[in-house]
Amino acid sequence: NEDLHTISIGFSQSIDHDIWRKSMDHAMEVEAALHSEVKLTIYNANRQEKKQIKDIEKFISDKVDVIIISPFELDSIIPVIEKANAIGIPVIIIDRKVNTSNYTAYLGADNVEVGRIAGRHIVSLSKGMANVMEIQGASYTSPGLDRSMGFHQIINQYPNIKVITIDAQKDQLPKKAFVKILQSSSDINYVFAYNDVIAYQAWKETKIYIPNNKIKFIGVDGINGPNGGIQLVKDGVLESTVLYPTGGSEAIKLALKIANKEIVPKNNNLSTILIDSLNADIMSNQFDKITIQQSDIEQQQKIIKNQEKKYSTQSNLLKLLISL
Ligand code: FRU
Repeated sequence: NEDLHTISIGFSQSIDHDIWRKSMDHAMEVEAALHSEVKLTIYNANRQEKKQIKDIEKFISDKVDVIIISPFELDSIIPVIEKANAIGIPVIIIDRKVNTSNYTAYLGADNVEVGRIAGRHIVSLSKGMANVMEIQGASYTSPGLDRSMGFHQIINQYPNIKVITIDAQKDQLPKKAFVKILQSSSDINYVFAYNDVIAYQAWKETKIYIPNNKIKFIGVDGINGPNGGIQLVKDGVLESTVLYPTGGSEAIKLALKIANKEIVPKNNNLSTILIDSLNADIMSNQFDKITIQQSDIEQQQKIIKNQEKKYSTQSNLLKLLISL
C-alpha cells in the first residue's frame, strides 16, 4: 500500500502577497517535490490569526504527520499548537516565535544578530557619527522586537549616532508623513528598515520628495531574483541588506527527519550575513546555482515518475494479457 509510505506535511503560512513569504512557500514546494513520499499542503491565513488557528485545526483533524507553522501572532495561537502537541502531532515553528515551548522544533535565523549586523554596518560606514532613521515593521512580533534590540545594542554604544524610530505599520509609510519626518529631523544619513520592501518604499518616497538626497538605505531579507533585496543592492537602491533566510527547504527536511523518528534539536539556527555591493554578485550567483540544481533534480524526478507510470501500465497490460 503506497499510502503507508506517504508523509503528509501541513504548512500554515501567515501572510500572503509578499516576496519573502512566496519564496518560503516556493522553497518548501521545491524541497517537497524532491521527496516522492511527501505530500505537502499549504494554507495561507492572510494575516488573520483566527484563520490561521482554523487552518491548523484542519491539519489536526486531517491527522497530518507533521505541521509546520509560520505564526502571525505569538499568543492567540498557543492553544492550537498545544492541542497538536498533546495528541502527538509534531509541530515545527518557523520565523516568528510563539509564547509556548510545547512544540517539537523551532527554525529561523537570529533576529538579534540581524539587528546587530545592521548596527555594525552603520557604525563602520559612518565611523560612529550619523543620524539614523529606524523604520520598524511589526513591532509586536519577535523578529521586530529582536531586530530592534540587536540594533540598539550596537548603536547605543556610539553617542554620536542619533536614532529616530518610526513604525511602518502605523502608516507612516508609504505616505508623505514619512517624508515630513525625514525632512524635519534634519540630515538623516541612514535609513535602516526592517525589511527590503519597506526600505525600497522609503527609498522611492525619498527620491520623489528629496531628489538629491545622499541617504543610504539598509534593509533585511535579501531575497534573490527580480525585485528581491540582492537585486536592489546590485542596482544601488539599497546600500546593503541583511540576509534573513526563509528556511523553507530546511523546514521540509526537518519535518522529514521528525516523521522518520529521528531526534532533532529543538532550536535550529539559520545563518545570516550582510549583503552589500562587495558580495551581492557572489551571493546571487550562489543562490542561482542552488536554484538550477534544484530544478535539475526536479526534472530528473519527473522523468523517473513518467518511467514508473509507463512501466506500471506496461506491467498491467502484461498482467491483462496473461490473464486472458
Ligand atoms: C515578510 C516579513 C519579512 C520579515 C519576516 C518577519 O512577511 O515581514 O520581510 O523578515 O516577515 O516575520
